[in-house]
This record gives sequence, structure tokens and C-alpha cells, in this order.
Amino acid sequence: MKAITIIPGQKDSACVKDVPEPGESEGDVLVRALALGICGTDFELISAEYGWAPPGSDHLILGHESLGRVEDAPENTGFAKNDLVVGVVRRPDPVPCLACAVDQWDMCRNGKYTERGIKERNGFGSELWRNESRFLVKLDPGLSDVGVLMEPASVLAKAWDHITRIGERAEWKPRTVLITGAGPIGLLGAMMGTQKGLEVHVLDRVTDGLKPRLVHELGGEYHTGRVRDLKFNPDVVIECTGVAQVIVDSIDKIGNDGIVCLVGVSSHGQKDTIDVGCLNRKLVLENGVIFGSVNSNLHHYELAQKALLDADRGWLSKLISRRERLSNWRDVLKRSPDDIKVIIEFSTN
Ligand code: BGC
Repeated sequence: MKAITIIPGQKDSACVKDVPEPGESEGDVLVRALALGICGTDFELISAEYGWAPPGSDHLILGHESLGRVEDAPENTGFAKNDLVVGVVRRPDPVPCLACAVDQWDMCRNGKYTERGIKERNGFGSELWRNESRFLVKLDPGLSDVGVLMEPASVLAKAWDHITRIGERAEWKPRTVLITGAGPIGLLGAMMGTQKGLEVHVLDRVTDGLKPRLVHELGGEYHTGRVRDLKFNPDVVIECTGVAQVIVDSIDKIGNDGIVCLVGVSSHGQKDTIDVGCLNRKLVLENGVIFGSVNSNLHHYELAQKALLDADRGWLSKLISRRERLSNWRDVLKRSPDDIKVIIEFSTN
């Protein structure tokens, strides 16, 4: 079968090649791939900035944003042929740590977790893949067009879940959210913000085209320029760019009791000057919180599915701005300004 592979640590080693079909040791459920979403992490993997091959192998099958149909599942698994499914990315560490022991692998304490398509486990970028039924999520059949957005949506569902938990440390009625970065992560975060009844603001450097249109269609306000020039102080910021100046401005901009959730991963070596005294005064005297959020557990996949089902399907499908066949996989790596989520289609049914 065909798979997209890389050699971790070796720049531009990505290729499509024939690999053996997955063995039962990789999971009890056999899945035929429908689609695979490509994200910033995949670009990092391809440029050898991140990623680990499975033990004993030099290559890693890429892909963690999956969508597929069950090809074969034992009876007692709760899955049947043709079920629409996505695979969970992370597996708990084997120790397990306090968090992994209660299935909160997204909060792993010792870093010994593994991740499909990223860290020591082959990903979902192959015509067939296997998954343990315990880490497989069944989707509403109506989501076949947009189900590939489940994994990024679960990451945002976690971010919102934790923002809400932090906010509820005291009486809290947030009114405004600022999302920095109008990529798939930012737009899914914005969509969830509107579902929570918040006034949604999205800031990105792109000045026209699909991104502003999608924000307006959501009922949100679109901004370009610098965060520090915005005319309001958001209750919540979800920072999706990873750009140092945007991060610093966002922290500076939050209102009293404000929360900045960092979900964008920065590249190394970005420098900015921060007055730590000022930062301290801002956070202490205004009860500010800055926190990071990564990955998701089964609870967040459930929340993500609900958010996708509640969303306007026409709007959601526009997030998938390009669908490429596996034979054109190299085109997926070329980014254009109007690209939001680019996916590889393995099969269309
Ligand atoms: C994935 C997460 C993963 C993270 C770090 C992200 O792109 O969506 O599931 O935990 O990368 O490896």
C-alpha cells in the first residue's frame, strides 16, 4: 500500500512509497483512509525540526489529522464495517503518570507519551491504517465531508475547555475573544467562540480574500495590523501564530481577569524584549493568566464533534480550501495565501 513517509531528522525526505499493510499489533480495527489533513506540525516534520521514528525504524509514516472508514473490526469493539472514524493522536505514557493513568494523556507529566505520525508511532498517512478501538472515535455519518477537521477541532475544544475552567475560578462572564491567526486553528477557535455567544475578533496579517470573508460570515470582526493598536481589551485571547511580537502584544492587551491561551507553536530563536516588572504588575494586579495548551483527549474529541455538528456546514466546508489527490501530494506542500486547511484525499467514499 502507498504511504507518505519521512525520515525524521533528515530534511525534505518526504516521499510516497510502498509499505507493508499494518499488522494487528497496531490495533484491532482496520481502517481505509479517506482523507488526511496537513498542518504546521507536518511542515516541521518535513523540514526535520521535529519528529521521531518508531523504535527500530528509520522512517515515520506521516499524518495525524485522519478520517477513514472501518474496513474490518472484531465484533466486541463497538465498530462495524463502513463506520466513519478518526484516530486519536496521542497514546498515554507506559508508566503511567498521574494524568495518563486517568486517560488525560494530553496533560502527560513525564513526556513519555507517543503520538501517531509525530512521535515514535506511524501516522495515518497510508491507504490502510490500524488503530486500537479504545483510541478510535466514531463520527456522525453526516460529517463525511468535514470530519477530517476533527483533530484540529479537538485541540481547540481542549483550549476552550481549559479557558472556561480557568475563568470559572471566580465570577466570570467573558464578552470578547481575540483570536490571533486566521488559519484552520484560529478559525475553528473563532467558530467555537461564536457558539459560546462571545463577540469574536480575529486578527491576521492577510488583508483580503477568504480569511476575512470567513470571519465576517461567522459574524465576527476581522482585523489586520498590530494587536496593540486594537481599540478594546479582550477577556480571552487564543494566540495561534506563535509569533513573539503577537504573543507579547496579546499579553499586554488583555483586560482585567483576562486569559491568554497559547496554542501556536513558535519557531526557535525568536527574540523580543519584555519588561518582566511590567509583566508581573499586569498579571498580579489584574489577575491575568497565560497558559499553553496542546493535544486533546477523548472528552475533547466529543466536544469537537458536537461543535462540528452545530456549525454551519457550508461555512465549515470552506475551511477545507484545497483537496489534493495522493498522487499530487507535493502540491499540498505549496502554500498560497488563501489556503486554510489543505487535505490529501485517499478515497472519496
Ligand atoms: C497536534 C497535537 C500534538 C502536537 C504536538 C499538533 O499538531 O495537533 O495533537 O500533540 O502537534 O506534537
